Amino acid sequence: MSDVNTASPSEDPVLVDLQDGIAWVTLNRPSKRNAISPPVVYRMCEVLNQLETDPACKVLVLTGAGEAFSAGMDLRDYFRATDGDRDAQLKLFRANAQWQWRQLRFYAKPTIAMVNGWCFGGAFTPLVSCDLAIAAEEATFGLSEINWGIIPAGIVSRAVAQLVRERDAMYLVMTGEPFDGKRAAEIGLVNEAVPRARLRERVVQLAKVLMDKNPTVLRTAKQAYRQAAEMPWEQAGDYLMAKADQSTFADPERGRAQGMKQFLDEKTYRPGLGAYRREER
Ligand code: ACO
Repeated sequence: MSDVNTASPSEDPVLVDLQDGIAWVTLNRPSKRNAISPPVVYRMCEVLNQLETDPACKVLVLTGAGEAFSAGMDLRDYFRATDGDRDAQLKLFRANAQWQWRQLRFYAKPTIAMVNGWCFGGAFTPLVSCDLAIAAEEATFGLSEINWGIIPAGIVSRAVAQLVRERDAMYLVMTGEPFDGKRAAEIGLVNEAVPRARLRERVVQLAKVLMDKNPTVLRTAKQAYRQAAEMPWEQAGDYLMAKADQSTFADPERGRAQGMKQFLDEKTYRPGLGAYRREER
């Protein structure tokens, strides 16, 4: 991964730090509350592409430098600077969709959003697109779009509808009211909220749980879940059978056979209580 961090840390709009299997991907414009500018967009595209096939990255954590996760799309550089320039918008908006949801929702590695602080507007899309999310209780979230005269667009409204009950979602869309990490957990926007002092520790703990799983099966499981969730039942049944076969066929660890052998023949573990013993790591 030596080529990911090409600029000096202070200049690079996205930092990547690989430690013990975790790729810490940090939006790095703290003085602008990590607002998503064109350089952030294009850098995130590169970073996601590079990490997706890097064996040193087993889990990707997305977070922000300083006080913010991200204050959303950059009003000056993303919006005003491209107003009236359809070609520039086409290129930029498409690249943003690519990293924020097209790629992230079906990413080959497990992903965790670590919401350390401010999280507004367009930042909801990568938040929802990550597989799991842990927030600081002290973080502040908001669909602030209504407060400055736009609707939650990009794909924010669709992303929020994926996770949040309609009453709660409509309240947020229509009031723009800020809320904290605890409330984000209550409405299902994040898995849980912990005191900020414990945020990183909890994320590392969760990442380790994920790293312990069979990576081929974990990848197929998360991608298959997302696809199946949007299919009719009949199609989902057929698709999931095919994915299960694909997963077993593609799995170099032969996890299914190992699990069966250890439970049925050797009686050395209980799948309801823990994972089978992996031999190839
Ligand atoms: N776009 C562009 N610049 C931003 C953004 C943004 N979304 N958010 C913050 N900044 C800039 C500010 O303009 C300021 O720049 P300056 O120092 O050059 O004046 C700098 O970041 C710091 O911002 P402050 O407002 O001074 O920081 P503070 O800590 O007081 O407040 C907060 C943080 C609450 C996040 C505030 O900046 C804010 O409300 N930002 C906008 C949040 C928002 O509504 N985002 C949704 C955008 S729309 C969308 O994403 C589709």
